[in-house]
Amino acid sequence: MPIPDPPNLYKRFFIDKQDERVELFRKVAVRFDVKRALYPGSFVHISPSFVIPSVVYVDTDRRTPKFFQDELLAPYIESRKEYAEAPEIGFHHQSYDDPIDEPLGSFDLLISQYAGFISTACSKYLRIGGLLLANDSHGDASMAVLDSDFELVAAVTRRGERFSIKETDLDQYLQPANPVEFTQESLRDRGRGIRYTKPAFAYLFRRIR
Ligand SMILES: C[S@@+](CC[C@H](N)C(=O)[O-])C[C@H]1O[C@@H](n2cnc3c(N)ncnc32)[C@H](O)[C@@H]1O
Repeated sequence: MPIPDPPNLYKRFFIDKQDERVELFRKVAVRFDVKRALYPGSFVHISPSFVIPSVVYVDTDRRTPKFFQDELLAPYIESRKEYAEAPEIGFHHQSYDDPIDEPLGSFDLLISQYAGFISTACSKYLRIGGLLLANDSHGDASMAVLDSDFELVAAVTRRGERFSIKETDLDQYLQPANPVEFTQESLRDRGRGIRYTKPAFAYLFRRIR
């Protein structure tokens, strides 16, 4: 059967830019048995739904409600999904800083990609033992380093659309290049990450309490 057309915004922002990151979510989902994910600040980045059966998206962008109601969306995800279950797609058009109508402690994975300090606002929705996948573009991985509820379990490296999960020698990651103290306040003021001696594309932290 031919693959249905992708919804326009997804095509424009992710397929055409070769930035779908499907392998990122596939490798995390397979390695850590992820069935349910929360993606605050997702915009229309629906790639997690190709490999994770239940995903809830949250975004304030004015284009997102129409996108998530688009009748092309369900057949498109159905055509690309790699799991047996029927896909579950949730969407909340709101700030992730406001209460999200989802059960606390119910998600296996919290996705934080280029969208601010999701770890502090949304870790309560992650189950204990669940994972935060954060990059440091806006400083969220550094924020998680300061949070004793999280422990680093892996670094994720990227070459184009190829991703690798590193679970050994993690000490080499998240070592600041400059010996400057950073705090939650200074990270919020900067709104971007710290320079590390060996940067990774993203990091996986486990919620331990
Ligand atoms: C740079 S885009 C990143 C999109 C996607 N995460 C990705 O990796 O391609 C940032 C998105 O975060 C959303 N965003 C920023 N702050 C937000 C907030 N407080 N609540 C909900 N969405 C937010 C913006 O509307 C925008 O769609």
